[in-house]
Amino acid sequence: MAVSFLKHVALEVPQDRMSEAQSFYTDFGLEISSSDSVLSFRCVGREYECLHIIPGNAKRLHHIAMGTSEEGLKEICENIQQCGGTIMSPLEGYSDDGVWLSDPHGAIFHVVVVAREAELPEEPEFKINSPGNYNRVNEGALPPKSTIPALNPRRLGHVMMFTPDLDQTIAFLEQGLGMRLSDRSQSAVAFLHCQGGSDHHVIALAQSDGIGFHHASFQMGTPDEVGLAGARMQEKWGSEGWGFGRHAIGSNFFHYVRDPWNSYLEYYCDIDYIADSDNWTATNWPLEDSLHTWGPNPPADFTKNYEASEA
Ligand SMILES: [Fe+2]
Repeated sequence: MAVSFLKHVALEVPQDRMSEAQSFYTDFGLEISSSDSVLSFRCVGREYECLHIIPGNAKRLHHIAMGTSEEGLKEICENIQQCGGTIMSPLEGYSDDGVWLSDPHGAIFHVVVVAREAELPEEPEFKINSPGNYNRVNEGALPPKSTIPALNPRRLGHVMMFTPDLDQTIAFLEQGLGMRLSDRSQSAVAFLHCQGGSDHHVIALAQSDGIGFHHASFQMGTPDEVGLAGARMQEKWGSEGWGFGRHAIGSNFFHYVRDPWNSYLEYYCDIDYIADSDNWTATNWPLEDSLHTWGPNPPADFTKNYEASEA
């Protein structure tokens, strides 16, 4: 079945801005799990690290780590070269567990044999009153804002990366890593899920001049948490994000926070879930639906690949 989940994403950032990185990702709601030369973060209460920040020259996508089974790893190693992938040596500082791969354009994946992380604990249902349905009675929706504590993402949901060839990278992810196309929008963006039950997208792709990191997205409990956490980050860090809104493709509520390197972290909730790939039909959405159904317009440079332009 090939890859079954997204384990972490690793970014290189300017080495003289590591303390800024530490503050930013901590404010976002992640906790530090180790801080030697590499800053490693996890979502509170989770077993696996979700983000590695590595000192380097400029921000760039370092690698994406995904989990699989012994059988999945064998399949990946057998199939990878037929779809333009290359098996490579481990990156400096990382183990030789599993297999290190380069996609046809040099984006690096580390696929490891590791158990899928435990399901999130069940939380209180989000209740909403709608015509004919009084699901929340005799109680308000929210306490005073000042009493709402810091909000922590529950888990890493997906990563969007830039690619210079959307179709070739879709083929690499489908034929090499065993993912499935969920939906796409023309030649602009594509969204892929893992077989065996996963969010609508685990890896998303945006067409660009080169490879690069666009955003990593973290699950929150409710639309209120998405909106409030996004607003708090915007207030504290001041940079132009995007939200609150709702995507058409994948259906998730979103709020994007611009990181110090002109890429993004996304808070999301209520994304489509694909339990069985054979019962999901991929749609090629019109370009006008590729960004969102409602919400403010994104920043003018939302889809600019700063890694390609600065390379
Ligand atoms: Fe996203």
